[in-house]
Amino acid sequence: MAKNYYASFFLFFTVLISIMPKSYQQSTDQYSDEHQILLGLERYWGSSPVLGRWNSTSSDYCSWGGVTCMNGMVTAISLANQNFSKSIPTSLCLLKNLNYLDLSYNNFSTSFPTILYNCSKLMYLDLSNNVFAGHLPADINSLSASLSTNHITGRIPTSIGWFPRLKSLQLDANQFDGSNPSKGISNLTNLEVLTLAENPFRPAPVPVEFGKLTRLTYLWLSGMNMTGEIPESLSSLTELTLLSMSNNKLNGTILTWIWQHKKLQYFVTALNLMELDVSSNKLTGAIPDDFGKLVNLTMLFLYKNQLHGSIPPSIGLLPNLIDIRLFDNLLSGSLLPELGKHSALGNIEVPNNNLSGELPDYLCSNRKLYDIVVFNNRFSGKLPKSLDGCYLLENLMLYNNIFTGEFPKSLWSVVTNRLSVVMIQNNNFSGTFPTHLPWNFTRLDIRNNRFSGPIPTLAGKMKVFQAANNLLSGEIPWDLTGTSQVVELDLSRNQITGSIPMTIGVLKLNTLNLSGNKISGNIPAAFGFMSVLTILDLSSNALSGEIPKEINKLRLNFLNLSMNHLSGEIPTSLQNGAYEESFFFNPGLCVSPNNSIRNLPICRVRSNIGDDTSRRLITLFSAVASIMVAGLALTKFHALHFTDYDVLSGLSEQNCVGSGRSGKVYRICAVDGADGNRILAVKKIWNGQNLAENLEKDFLAEVRILGEIRHTNIVKLLCCISSSEAKLLVYEYMENGSLDQWLHQRDRIVAPAPLDWLKRLQIAIDLARGLCYMHHDCSPAIVHRDVKSANILLDAEFRAKIADFGLARILVKAGDLKSVSAIGGTFGYMPPEYGYQRKGNEKVDVYSFGVVLLELTTGRVANGGGAEYCLAEWAWRQYQEYGLSIDLLDEDIRDPAYIEDAFTVFTLGVICTGGQPSLRPSMKDVLYALLRFEHKYRERGQQDTVSEETSLLES
Ligand SMILES: *[C@@H]1O[C@H](CO)[C@@H](O)[C@H](O)[C@H]1NC(C)=O
Ligand SMILES: *[C@@H]1O[C@H](CO)[C@@H](O)[C@H](O)[C@H]1NC(C)=O
Ligand SMILES: *[C@@H]1O[C@H](CO)[C@@H](O)[C@H](O)[C@H]1NC(C)=O
Ligand SMILES: *[C@@H]1O[C@H](CO)[C@@H](O)[C@H](O)[C@H]1NC(C)=O
Repeated sequence: MAKNYYASFFLFFTVLISIMPKSYQQSTDQYSDEHQILLGLERYWGSSPVLGRWNSTSSDYCSWGGVTCMNGMVTAISLANQNFSKSIPTSLCLLKNLNYLDLSYNNFSTSFPTILYNCSKLMYLDLSNNVFAGHLPADINSLSASLSTNHITGRIPTSIGWFPRLKSLQLDANQFDGSNPSKGISNLTNLEVLTLAENPFRPAPVPVEFGKLTRLTYLWLSGMNMTGEIPESLSSLTELTLLSMSNNKLNGTILTWIWQHKKLQYFVTALNLMELDVSSNKLTGAIPDDFGKLVNLTMLFLYKNQLHGSIPPSIGLLPNLIDIRLFDNLLSGSLLPELGKHSALGNIEVPNNNLSGELPDYLCSNRKLYDIVVFNNRFSGKLPKSLDGCYLLENLMLYNNIFTGEFPKSLWSVVTNRLSVVMIQNNNFSGTFPTHLPWNFTRLDIRNNRFSGPIPTLAGKMKVFQAANNLLSGEIPWDLTGTSQVVELDLSRNQITGSIPMTIGVLKLNTLNLSGNKISGNIPAAFGFMSVLTILDLSSNALSGEIPKEINKLRLNFLNLSMNHLSGEIPTSLQNGAYEESFFFNPGLCVSPNNSIRNLPICRVRSNIGDDTSRRLITLFSAVASIMVAGLALTKFHALHFTDYDVLSGLSEQNCVGSGRSGKVYRICAVDGADGNRILAVKKIWNGQNLAENLEKDFLAEVRILGEIRHTNIVKLLCCISSSEAKLLVYEYMENGSLDQWLHQRDRIVAPAPLDWLKRLQIAIDLARGLCYMHHDCSPAIVHRDVKSANILLDAEFRAKIADFGLARILVKAGDLKSVSAIGGTFGYMPPEYGYQRKGNEKVDVYSFGVVLLELTTGRVANGGGAEYCLAEWAWRQYQEYGLSIDLLDEDIRDPAYIEDAFTVFTLGVICTGGQPSLRPSMKDVLYALLRFEHKYRERGQQDTVSEETSLLES
């Protein structure tokens, strides 16, 4: 929770003592000496980001990076962050006028570099954030020294006090021990910055002598083992802007001297204090009302003490307060009613107290709040209205209070929201969720409230979603792509109906609890994929059927399937005493005779019907015969100006651009009225035998249906030329060829460059639109049965259209049973159910579409030409074994801006290629999921790359 506010601050305050040398002996010799010295440094330390840019042929070394000159002589060297580890060379001090040296953030690991004593003019030295070790030499020079964050051990030498001109001494985060660091330091009356924090000093009181350092503005004394009370003597430090004494063993009441500066007794508003941190001590008593006088205070940390009483209202009036942390005390009463009204409050943390009443009305009225952490108190009532539009909010932790009322809907808003953690469990909130939660959510805990309505599709970064004991209803959404990072999902004791979607298998869950709902149907075999699942509770539902044997693959620590209607033999790995209490009240369950769990009946022997679902490779069919054209009939579906002669005369071998199983494809140029020439694609299908007259009629009827389809994402069938022996289907020609060419067989002419992510996404959306139209808007639905990247054609603008729609049906009507079996899909794109039944509904296309999504994201081919490799299986395996990792993605789309989206589309591909057709999403669902990107990119202002068409769903 605590942000480290020091890290960047202390370096900033290291002050240069500006006493410049009065005159220099200038000679050309000296210049070239300095040139040589610098070149020596470059050779010695080797290449580094800054040294690498030094131009060794130029004598103008004063212009080199990190080098500052005065009167032609080097006076300052700043080489922070250069990864130096080789010690500091003695030659450095040959730069006679060097007075400023910054070597912070390197990897020096020697003892304190005493060679620097030879730099006689050096006044500013920053060696912080290295790994210097050993003791600080007793004869440390007159430096404004920052040695913070090193490993320097031993005592701080009292000789430090011989150099009273020091303005800044930063020795924090070293290994200094000893008990009283004050001896020498209290002599340094010019000090403005003093940091001794985080050193393992022996327990000792706060040095009263520090009261002499009246010019201090920055005093950081955290983690120093300081004991006793905060001494009154520090009241002379009237210039302080930061005072931190956190993480010590200080006791007594909270420091009252802060506003009792003797000098300023009647002028307290002049106090400079901006940041006060006395957290993690043993301070007692109440918080004094006089804190309200510290008008410059931005940060007030009093957490982890034993403070009691109520919080004085004056603190709520402070005009500059940004961050207030009072947690882990014994505070009671209400929380500052005007908090947030008078200042740009960003962070409030008051958990683990006894606070009550409502949250302040104005808490977020300045719209700057990013954290509200108030758990474990007795707050009640509704959340303040000012939370509406509190769009910077990231953390909201309200749990274990007695809040009521509707949870503000605006906080779920996807658009501006940064909210990532919402923990509001154990209150009495009501409300509903939008379909999608903001992408940034990582944790949502709403247990034991009264939320109702459907379960949201969760956000992409979500790790934990706990919603037990609410009133959520409806089905578990199939679209769990947004939840692929979730490890813990608890939806128990709600009113969820429907069945468990097979898509659950894509989740990398450790814990799944769906108990106490009204879920029916089977337990999906996809559970077998959830290899890291250790806790599974599906008890008290209406699940039926057998427990899938895939569950054998899991290593469950906890399993509860009690109180369902499950039947059949329990999978062998579960027939074991460890799961004795997992199956109560499922009268149909049984165990094998030799492996019995107590209280369960022995199964009667039954025959095992083979359910071998392995995919079979369909013999590829290739049409090779050439045709004779006779008895032509031209059927036109569009106003066309070319004739059948134009088409036929183009069917020469040199115009042949491809040949598929069902025939050859020609690219021909036909005269098309006054507009000039029109490029056509002609697909020639070989009948194989003469059709009976009635079949010919059926065929033409079928072609007519297809010819009348008008959809931007389906290649237009312009006309059909039919003879008794062959059919010519004439399509519009697509300039950019097929997706297959762009992904897998790039050549310099057709596909010269890789497709970028936005093009790929647009192709996926176009394809989904086309399929969605055919499946859902045509009656009866038209199934493609051979969706593959080779059938996806790209026009001049890379908009995708699906080719060969309905070809399968045409061929059925053409009476060619051989090619009907042959067009039973392409290996790598066929779903498992298609392999042996050769039938299937729209879900066949969904599967093939999923494969295309996998091709688009991974750049891999759908099949390697044999039964050994199949992209869909590969993807499942990768996903299960390694999760979403960058090497899944095609190298050409590893653009950090889109990786997350590519992962989501990949996961969608995995879901679409699920084994069980009924659990695959519909094309409408898929399109909906993809359109989310369109909306997202549109918000980002990338309209030109993404289609502006209204989606089918909206129409
Ligand atoms: C380096 O300095 C020389 C001499 O001044 C100059 O000619 C050359 O262009 C410089 N090289 C670069 C990379 O700046
Ligand atoms: C403090 O500084 C004075 C000179 O300014 C010096 O004489 C004295 O020894 C110093 N005391 C300590 C403890 O270093
Ligand atoms: C505090 O002092 C004790 C006793 O010298 C020591 O063991 C401990 O490490 C110190 N604590 C810290 C945080 O330095
Ligand atoms: C504060 O701590 C000091 C030293 O640890 C102890 O002697 C003193 O009694 C404590 N005072 C109170 C009020 O607890």
